[in-house]
Formats: sequence, C-alpha cells, structure tokens
Amino acid sequence: MSAAAGPKSKGSVPVGRSVLVKVPATTANLGPGFDTLGLALSVYDELIVTARKKPGATVEVLGVGAGEVPTDESNLVVRSIAYTFAAYGIDLPGLDLVARNSIPHGRGMGSSGAAIVSGIMAAKGLLEGIVEIDSQGLLALATALEGHPDNVAPALFGGLTIAWMTPEGPRHKKLIVHRGVSPLVAVPVESIMSTALARSLQPESVPHEDAVFNVSRSALLIAALIQSPELLLAATEDKLHQSYRASAMPETDALIRVLRENDLAAVVSGAGPSILVLCSDPSQRLVATELIHKHSTTPWNCLLLAVDFRGATVIPHSTEAVA
Ligand code: HSE
Repeated sequence: MSAAAGPKSKGSVPVGRSVLVKVPATTANLGPGFDTLGLALSVYDELIVTARKKPGATVEVLGVGAGEVPTDESNLVVRSIAYTFAAYGIDLPGLDLVARNSIPHGRGMGSSGAAIVSGIMAAKGLLEGIVEIDSQGLLALATALEGHPDNVAPALFGGLTIAWMTPEGPRHKKLIVHRGVSPLVAVPVESIMSTALARSLQPESVPHEDAVFNVSRSALLIAALIQSPELLLAATEDKLHQSYRASAMPETDALIRVLRENDLAAVVSGAGPSILVLCSDPSQRLVATELIHKHSTTPWNCLLLAVDFRGATVIPHSTEAVA
C-alpha cells in the first residue's frame, strides 16, 4: 500500500491523547549491502507526544541534539507526524513533544531515520482506532521521507532487514541474526558526516565486475549473519561505496584497514564516519576496541551493542506521569 492510498478521515485525535515511542539506532549497508541491508542496535531514542487543542507544536529535546535541533514545526519528528496525518487525510492536532535522544547525530547510526520513524510511530499511536497503518504503510511513509529504506526498515521492525524497492513501494524481509554475532560501533567524538555529502561522492555508474563482486558478498553476508559468523570478514567486502567516500573520512578509512588486517569484519556504519565491527564472538570486541584506541589520533567511543530484535514500539502514555 502506498501511504497516499490510505483511507480518508474517520475522525480526529482526542485532545490529551498521549503516546510513548521508542526507536532503535540502526547501521546500514553492512559493507556490501548498499541501500539494502540494515541492522537495528541497542541504543534508543524515546519520544512522548501529546495532542493538545492549540494548533502548532512545542518540542523539548533532552540528551543528544538538545540546543541544536529545531524545536518548532520544522523539527523532523514533527514533520514526520504531519506527513503521516496528511497521507491519511486526518487533521493534525496541536502537539507537545518531549524527546529523550541517545542516538548520536551525523555519525552513521540512523539518527534521521529514527527521528522519521519516531514521528510516524507517534502518528500511528495517536491515530489508534481512527486509522490503522500496517507494516507496509509504515515502511512506505518512512522511505518516502528518508529517501532510501535501509535504515528505516530495521528501525521499524528490528533485527537484520533486507529492504528493496518495487513499483508498488518499498518492501522488507526481517531476519534473526546468529547469536554469536556481536556488533561494536566505534563513534568518532569530533567528526560528523552528512549523508548528502557522502551520496554526492558516489559515481553515476560502476564497473560490472564491481557489481558482481558486491552481489556475491551481499549473498554471502546473509549466510554469515544468520548461520556462519566465521565468514563475516570475507562477506563484508565492498566495492560500491566505501572507497568512493574514503577521502571524506580518512581516519575511518585508516582504522577500517587496520581492523580488517587483523581479521575483524570492519565496515563504514551507514554513510559514516562511525565504524561497525561485526564480531563473530563477544571477545573479539575487546581486540577491536584496543586496536582502535591504539591506532586512532582523535577520540573514539567504542559502543559494545546488542542487536535489537523488536524495532520501534508505541504505547499509550499517561500524561499524569509526565514529570
Ligand atoms: N545507504 C545509505 C548510504 C545509508 O550509505 O548513503 C545512510 O543513510
């Protein structure tokens, strides 16, 4: 179903209705799976949205992004809520938002996808009993706003996701990752990367042999992630995006080389500049952390994370419980 094909208005959101949304961070591409593969990770943004009578929106941001992101109707979460209401032909109520963010911004951990998914899930919760938005509708809305589905699919559904585009809209398949797979995300403290800049570095076309190379590694990566973690190093090779973007994040590139020379399956996390290391057992993460601290010239935070299997959630929230 496309978002625009949703049912027409059946009512309006009661004043005072409030929802609590929780959305995981994500890492996209995973090496060879450019714009296709994504993994949900155990870092979360939380959001409380309450419908009010007065039109417009207020936004309070706590944690990551406080004092930096817009707090008016130009806020990405507010725009995503408004987009969802418009797609289903429902009048947008006034909104009060409180966001508690933990996902780093501009680091390749899916913060914009999480903001978009937060808004869409909040809208879904506010519209409970008025409009039902199914999984395909959620993914269609989120992909339309994000531009590509590889972050928003795992943010919505959790686990490892394969996302693909069809003439009827985006689709996804969720897979459960082998329990030995242990992600580490190394986040540079001082540098950020814009996805738009990273995408501008991509060539219009790539050699056929490079495309074949990535097809083979992407197929192998699914096997490695769900069944055979010992294949992760070979399965995370890539020729479609990382080399084209390396000049924009030289320390990321240099550290990935060191990690891979030490048999660790390190790749750029999303559009970077963070590094994702897909360890085949938890102890490998300590080796990766030591290598990063030994070879980096700027500060990096090494996050030892779990795969999130649940994805985004929305539940009713009692406004009386708001501090
Ligand atoms: N697949 C996307 C990219 C992920 O690498 O550009 C970042 O949004």
